[in-house]
Amino acid sequence: MKIKALKLLALACLLAAIALPVLFLSGTTSSESEPSVAGLGYGSLETFNANYKDWETKYEKDGGDKNMVLAMGWFKGLSTGHSYAKGLAKFNLVDGTVTVAIDGLPQDEGWDVWMVDSAPGRSIGLENDDNMMRLGSLKLDAKTATLAADLGKDAFTKFNMDLIIVTKAGKTPIEDRTLIGTTSLFHRVYRSKQQGQFGVLADADPVAPKPDNRGFFQRLVDTISPTASAQIGPIPNPTTPLQLSITRGRKSFFNETFNGNGRTCGTCHRENGNLTIDAEFIDDLPPNDPIFAAEFIPALANNFENPVLMRKLGLILENPDGFGNLAGNFVMRGVPHTLALLQNTLTPVAGGGDGTTIPPNERTGWGGDGAPGTGTLREFIIGAIVQHYPKTLNRQAPGDFRMPTTGELDDLEAFQKSLGRRADLDLAAMKPKFRNEVIRLGVDIFNNGGSVLGGSNEGAGKCFFCHLNAGASDFFFPGQNANFNTNVEGLPSQPADLVFPPQLNPQDGGFGQTGISPTGGIGNGTFNTPVLVEAADTGPFFHNNSIETIEGAVDFYNSNAFNQAPGFGSLIGGIRLEATEVVAVAALLRAINVLENERSARDLIERIKIATSDGQAKELANLAVSEIDDAIEVLVGGGLHRKAQKEFAKARTSAINAASNTGARRIEHANKAIGLLKEARNDIIAP
Ligand code: HEC
Ligand code: HEC
Repeated sequence: MKIKALKLLALACLLAAIALPVLFLSGTTSSESEPSVAGLGYGSLETFNANYKDWETKYEKDGGDKNMVLAMGWFKGLSTGHSYAKGLAKFNLVDGTVTVAIDGLPQDEGWDVWMVDSAPGRSIGLENDDNMMRLGSLKLDAKTATLAADLGKDAFTKFNMDLIIVTKAGKTPIEDRTLIGTTSLFHRVYRSKQQGQFGVLADADPVAPKPDNRGFFQRLVDTISPTASAQIGPIPNPTTPLQLSITRGRKSFFNETFNGNGRTCGTCHRENGNLTIDAEFIDDLPPNDPIFAAEFIPALANNFENPVLMRKLGLILENPDGFGNLAGNFVMRGVPHTLALLQNTLTPVAGGGDGTTIPPNERTGWGGDGAPGTGTLREFIIGAIVQHYPKTLNRQAPGDFRMPTTGELDDLEAFQKSLGRRADLDLAAMKPKFRNEVIRLGVDIFNNGGSVLGGSNEGAGKCFFCHLNAGASDFFFPGQNANFNTNVEGLPSQPADLVFPPQLNPQDGGFGQTGISPTGGIGNGTFNTPVLVEAADTGPFFHNNSIETIEGAVDFYNSNAFNQAPGFGSLIGGIRLEATEVVAVAALLRAINVLENERSARDLIERIKIATSDGQAKELANLAVSEIDDAIEVLVGGGLHRKAQKEFAKARTSAINAASNTGARRIEHANKAIGLLKEARNDIIAP
C-alpha cells in the first residue's frame, strides 16, 4: 500500500517532468530562495542537471559543437617534461575541422599535434590500444605556432576525442606529451545527448551495466527526473546512467586508493564531516588512519605533511607551485568542502578582470588554480592523486600510484558535481520571510554596497560584491567566480605562525606559479572567493584555517589587514561594522547554513524510506544525524531559534528510529522526522 503510494508519487513527478519539458530543458538558471521541496524533488541529479544546463546554455550560445574550445597546457602528472607554453584548440565537430594555436613553444624544435580516443576502461595515461590520430605539424612563426586540419564531416562521429596532445616532432603521444588538452564531463554528456544516448558516456568502464534499450525520451525523462537521487550518501536502486555514474563515483571517492599510500579522497573530504575535515575530527582518528601517512611511512616522513600543524590546526601540505623544491616550496592549507561546485563557483572571470589567467579553466582550490593541466575540476582529481596519494616522493606512476581511467574520471567528476545545493539563493527575496529581526538585519548589511553604489558606508557590509547571494559569484561579474587579495596572509598572530617559524610555515602567495605576492610567497597574492552558504559548519575559516568562529570570520572585514590590504580592501571604500552588525551578518550565515542542513537531512531521510537494505538505511540515517547535529550546533553557537533546536533534536531521534525499524514503522518514523524538520525550518523562515 505504502509502496504503491510512493510509486504514484514518483509517477506524479515524472508526469510533471513530461508536462513541463520546456522548464526542464530550456536551461533557465533563475536563482531560487530554496530548491523545490515537493516530495522527492531535490537531490543530486537535480544539482547535476542544473549545473549541466548552465553549461549547455553557455556552450550553445558560444556556437556549440561548431565551436568547441579546449585550452592546452602543461599537465602535471600526465605531461612529459615541463613547459610554460600554452594555447587553444578549436574544434568544429560538425564539419570536422580543427585549429590549434600555441604560444611559447621553443622555436628550435618541431612539434606535432595528436588526438586520442582512450580505449574503454583504460587509464587516461597513454597506452598502445588507445586510438590515436596525428593531425599534422605545427607551423612556427615569431610568436604563435599554428595548425589547421580538415578531417572531413564524419571525423567525429565515431572518434570520441578524450585528449589533444602536442608532441615533439616525430614522437607519438606514448613517447612524448608536452602539452595536453582534455574534454570535460559536461561535453561528454552533451555528445551523448547529440548521439541520442543522453548520459550514456562512451568509455564507461566495462564493468558498468549495459545501457538499456528504453526509448530516448523515456531515458531523458528518467535522467532528469529526480527520483531517489542523492546529494550525499547512497542512492537506493540507481538505474539511470547518471545515477549509476554518481554511485560509482561515490564509491571511488571514498574507497579507491589508486594503488597509492592508502589514502582516498574521503580521507580528507569526509562524508559525515561536510566533505571536509578539521582538527577536532582528526583528533578522533586512529594512528593508522592514512591521513597520518607521513607518521608511519618512512619514505613520506619529510616534506610530505607537517604532522603538528595537521593535528593542531587541520592543515594539509600542498605544493601548488610544483614539486621542484619540496623543502622550501609548499603551503599549509585547510581542506575546503566540495559542496556546491556549481558553474557559478567554477567559472573564472572572463578576460582576466580579476588579475588571473585562463587557463586554469575552472576555479578550484583556495588559490583558484588548484588543478593541473588546463585547470578543470576533472583534472583536479589527477592533481589530488599526485599530491596526496604517493608511496614515495618521486611521485611516478605506476609504482607510486596509478592514473585514473577515463571512466573513473567521469564518475568522480559526476559525483563531485552532484554534491549539495543546485542553485544559488536569492537573499533579497528571503529577507522578509526570516522570522528573526537580527537575521533580517544581517541580509541588509550583507547586501549593502555603501559608497560604492553612492550610499553611506554606515552598516554597509559590501559582502555581496564578492559573495553574491552568499555564493561564490561576483556582483560585477555575475555567474563568474573572482579572485581577490583580501590580505588574510597579512593578518598578524595567525595560529600556525604561533606554532612554527616561517621556514616551516612559509607565506602563501595564492594564485599563479610565478611572481612574488605583496605579502610574500609565489603567486599574485589573490585567493578564490568561496561559497558562504556552507560556511558556518565548515570552519575554521580562510585558506589557512586562521579564524575559528564564523563571527571572527565576519569581523576579519573590520581588520586593518583587510582595510589596508595591498589588494582589495581599500578599493571598495573599506568595511566598518559595529559589533552588533558583525553578529547580525554571522547570524544570517548561520541561518542559511542551517536551512541547507535541513534540506539535506530531509533529502537523506526521504531516501531511508526507499532504502534497499538495513545497512543502507543506517548509513543514510547516520548522515542525516550529522547534518542535524550540525544544524543544532550552528544554532546553539549563535543563540538562535531555541524552538527549532528542540525540533531538530526530536527529528534526530525519529531519523534513528526510522533506520532501526522496517516496513510501515520505518516510513512512519521517517515521516515524523520529515515533519519535524519542516517545523524547524518554518521557525526560521516562512514558507
Ligand atoms: C590529504 C588530504 C586530501 C586528500 C586525500 C584529498 N584532498 Fe581535496 N583538498 C585538500 C586540500 C588541502 C585542498 C585545498 C587545495 C588548494 O587550496 O589548492 C583540497 C581541495 C579540493 C577541491 C577544491 C574544492 C574547491 O572548493 O575549490 C576539490 C574539488 C578536491 N579537493 C577534490 C579531491 C578529490 C577528488 C580527491 C581524491 C582524488 C581529494 N580531493 C583528495 C585535501 C585533500
Ligand atoms: C573583495 C571581495 C570580498 C569581499 C568584499 C568579502 N569577501 Fe569574504 N572572502 C573573499 C575571499 C577572496 C575569501 C577567501 C580568502 C582566503 O581564504 O584567503 C573570502 C572568505 C570568506 C569567508 C571564509 C569562508 C571559508 O569557508 O573559509 C567568510 C566567512 C567570508 N569571506 C565572509 C564575508 C563577509 C561576511 C563579507 C562582508 C562583510 C565578505 N566576506 C566580504 C572575498 C571577499
